[in-house]
Amino acid sequence: MAGLSARPKRLPPKYFYDATGSHLFERITELPEYYLTRTELGILADHAKEIAAFVPAGAALIEFGSGSSAKVRLLLKEMPRLGAYVPVDISAEFLDEEAARLRREFPRLNVVPVAADFTHPCDLPRSLGARDLAGFFPGSTIGNFEPDAARELLRLARRLLGSGATFVVGVDLVKDRRVLERAYDDAAGITAQFNLNVLARANRELGAKFDLSAFAHLAFYDQERSRIEMHLVSRVAQSIRVLGRSFAFAAGESIHTENSYKYTVEAFSTLAGEAGWRCASVFLDADALFSVHVLRAKIQ
Ligand code: SAH
Ligand code: AVI
Repeated sequence: MAGLSARPKRLPPKYFYDATGSHLFERITELPEYYLTRTELGILADHAKEIAAFVPAGAALIEFGSGSSAKVRLLLKEMPRLGAYVPVDISAEFLDEEAARLRREFPRLNVVPVAADFTHPCDLPRSLGARDLAGFFPGSTIGNFEPDAARELLRLARRLLGSGATFVVGVDLVKDRRVLERAYDDAAGITAQFNLNVLARANRELGAKFDLSAFAHLAFYDQERSRIEMHLVSRVAQSIRVLGRSFAFAAGESIHTENSYKYTVEAFSTLAGEAGWRCASVFLDADALFSVHVLRAKIQ
């Protein structure tokens, strides 16, 4: 309600992810234009052993925004003595389905899913006891936060994971505008469906009456801010009731639904450094499309 009342209108991207949104995101990861997932998977496959060596035996590995846990499988194969895997995700139903699938695939692994918003401090399940902790934050989900909020989130993770912890973070890199814009506006229209799902969710969960065909998906790269912006643009002048309040849209007025910041390796290392992390290693693919940073908590 606050976002729809704001000028310009905005909605936080975390609301994309109910079960439908999570399934749509999985379809995005398979699109030819969406280079991020396959590139990060390639980097992780090439360096899984080196990365796994940073995680102590018996530790609990906390994944932030785990989705389908596809990427962590590559690391888990190299961590036979991991104490627990803790996927944290806001999409509770999808999280439970994926945790069940992972347990079937890795019967000896202790899988402890946590349905939570990782931007809020939260206690880890008591069953983890006093294990060492390590973090995994792939997908460039960190890029969905404004730099100040990203720094704050990295700080929160630093406090949660503790001294000496390792934090493996996937970060998408600055590149040619055309490559970026195609990745967020695919020919099959799946990203458009994903974007519109936030309105579909408002209809399902808040009894709103958004006509999805009256909004257009828009994605563009803002080079100055190094970010993709996603919007839903009202095709007509219209007024929509949500929870008993009316929200007026002019024709062409947009709801800003997501930013996806792109970093240079140096810019991300600096940001992480300001949040209490030092860079131990960074791995890139051959075309320097994507980066995987291995961070270590600074002793403070
Ligand atoms: N890590 C996966 C999924 C990335 S999609 C990958 O790399 O492919 C982003 C994921 O983060 C989604 O599963 C979404 O539900 C989750 N997410 C987004 N914002 C969140 C928040 N504030 N708290 C917890 N999970 C969140
Ligand atoms: C989860 N996050 C990193 C994705 C991204 O690339 O910003 C979400 C997404 N939005 C559109 N396509 C994918």
